[in-house]
Amino acid sequence: MPQDQASSSIESVLHEDRHFPPPAGFAAQAHVGSMEQYEALHQRSLNDPEGFWAEEAERHHWFKPWEKVVEWDAPDAKWFVGGTTNLCYNAVDKQVADGFGSQTAIIWEAEPIDADGTPQVLHLTYSDLMRETAKFANVLKGQGVKKGDVVTIYMGMVPELAIAVLACARIGAPHSVIFGGFSAQAIKDRVEDGRSNIIITCDGSWRRGSVVPLKDNVDEACKQTDLVDTVIVVKRCENDTAWTEGRDAWYHDLMATATDDCPCEELDSEDLAFILYTSGSTGKPKGIMHTTGGYMVWTAMTSRLTFDLQPDEDDVYWCTADIGWITGHSYILYGILPNRVPTIMYEGGPNYPGADRFWDMVARHKVTKFYTAPTAIRAFMKWGDEHPRKHDLSSLKVLGTVGEPINPEAWMWYHKVIGHENCPIVDTWWQTETGGHMLTPLPGATTTTPGSCCRPMIGVDAAVVNSDGEPVGTNEGGILVIRKPWPGMLRGIYGDRDRYIDTYWSRFQDKGYYVPADGARVDDNGNFWIMGRIDDVIVVAGHNIGTMEVESAIVSHEATAEAAVVGYPHDVKGNALAAFIILKGDLPTPGSEEDLALKKNIRDHCGKELGPICKPDQVRFTEALPKTRSGKIMRRLLRDIAAGNEITQDVTTLEDKSIVEKLQASG
Ligand code: WTA
Repeated sequence: MPQDQASSSIESVLHEDRHFPPPAGFAAQAHVGSMEQYEALHQRSLNDPEGFWAEEAERHHWFKPWEKVVEWDAPDAKWFVGGTTNLCYNAVDKQVADGFGSQTAIIWEAEPIDADGTPQVLHLTYSDLMRETAKFANVLKGQGVKKGDVVTIYMGMVPELAIAVLACARIGAPHSVIFGGFSAQAIKDRVEDGRSNIIITCDGSWRRGSVVPLKDNVDEACKQTDLVDTVIVVKRCENDTAWTEGRDAWYHDLMATATDDCPCEELDSEDLAFILYTSGSTGKPKGIMHTTGGYMVWTAMTSRLTFDLQPDEDDVYWCTADIGWITGHSYILYGILPNRVPTIMYEGGPNYPGADRFWDMVARHKVTKFYTAPTAIRAFMKWGDEHPRKHDLSSLKVLGTVGEPINPEAWMWYHKVIGHENCPIVDTWWQTETGGHMLTPLPGATTTTPGSCCRPMIGVDAAVVNSDGEPVGTNEGGILVIRKPWPGMLRGIYGDRDRYIDTYWSRFQDKGYYVPADGARVDDNGNFWIMGRIDDVIVVAGHNIGTMEVESAIVSHEATAEAAVVGYPHDVKGNALAAFIILKGDLPTPGSEEDLALKKNIRDHCGKELGPICKPDQVRFTEALPKTRSGKIMRRLLRDIAAGNEITQDVTTLEDKSIVEKLQASG
């Protein structure tokens, strides 16, 4: 829909009056233990950013202190101006210097189960990590990599991935990590966009018991570009792979002769730390740029507060994301390591060898803080409660979610079946572009409500506005904006200044607001609700409807497991809603009495929950939804299917391509 229409008032509001205060014992020992404390910190961070952020930054090591905390000339921010520091130093070396070298930094678990019935587990201490990153930094230097050179990393979730990423940070070579599920084409596009000459990869990676041939994909990409002159290969799966003499080298061969003497490079706070590509729903991927000092301070603070990390209290933290996504960058590595809490890196799939793998791991490693995505939670719900019930999950203290709105039904399941009604849930809203959490509960302070990401993070000035940039009223849907700069914000799109301004800043240029392009509302408790991307807010017969709320209403029906709702053009109403639904049980025969009755029943249920205007015109049952490899539903594709349009768009990022035809037939 035209974005302007997101400003008129929303007519349907999902009714949710379940509230969960933090457990008293938890609040008593938390970094932020009450709403009053949160409010005071939040106020201070906005009223006195210089003082507030200077104190946060002082938790880190700086080679040279900054002269000014922030310089803001919208849309350009500089943080800790004139200061020099290093992300790897603060993640790794600092812990060794502070006397904690023998503590576990990373707990790595392999996917395959060995003959003795257990998987391989490695504990890397801070000293191990310091030695290995220094050695690999020397390897990179030996291959001619200099400060400022973009290093492409395309690997599975193996320890060498963390080592490679941190080694790049050590020498100031920005990394560009490509998720190991992407194809040769994606590698080629990113290598060319980043002008990168070197790729670090693995022979293969394990995924649900089979080998993904990473090196073959790199070879294929290199056929399409002549930029790459060095490929370093970690031997993991021992699968056969072609070898290009002069270009390819084994990681273990290079490491065998590397020395571990490589001090961390003194980097300017605004030196480029990394590029990470985000696909978005239109156009070519955007190379989001993050710099050194601000990103470091931001990810460390948000990690500490959102997960209430307590280094000396046996905390064990596990984020199930892949390091190929921003969640893995910020909340497996950069934000967690400076907090000196062991971070788990798991190599493989959630249902290998069985649907209880995650819960088995939580019990074995005594995980206290667990962070995953709604798409995973819905899959666990579908697989059944018996899998988590088999394991002792009593170590868990905080449960997190990220990536898309979590439906209240999934939230309640997470709360009951995983958290045993005893763990605060932090529903964290943020983006690749924001570097870290922007809207989230704080587990010791916030009374949570299923489906709401609650409050702005400390340091974040968030608001919901209309098309003139004026704040809308309580429960009115509108455009989410961030009105002040924050340390972890993106610094641009690599090589495309115009697109940067156009995408994020042009809408309210005079006001200097950052526009994430999500729709939201604020309820009467001051809690934020994300309504989905702005183009997912649909005007049906003049009423503004957030597709997210209709989806949540549908999955609160007993027969449904998951739903995606999109709008499509309608002669009379302007737009109508189409719902694509996965059922808990078997699909009824299309057109049968049972099929039609269930569809009617679900439509009526939406009408009852949200109002008649929210009844979908089309209800389609399907076995699966089209998702990108990061688990996001491809709504544009669903819109075309609902409208009966020919599919012309690129479906190469789709996980299962056969699904398009099945969906077309489901009408
Ligand atoms: C969506 C992932 C609702 C949102 C860290 C955002 C969410 C986009 C949430 C960014 C959440 C992420 N509730 N929606 N808790 N978290 N989103 O760049 O639309 O992969 O703009 O970053 O995901 O996705 P990205």
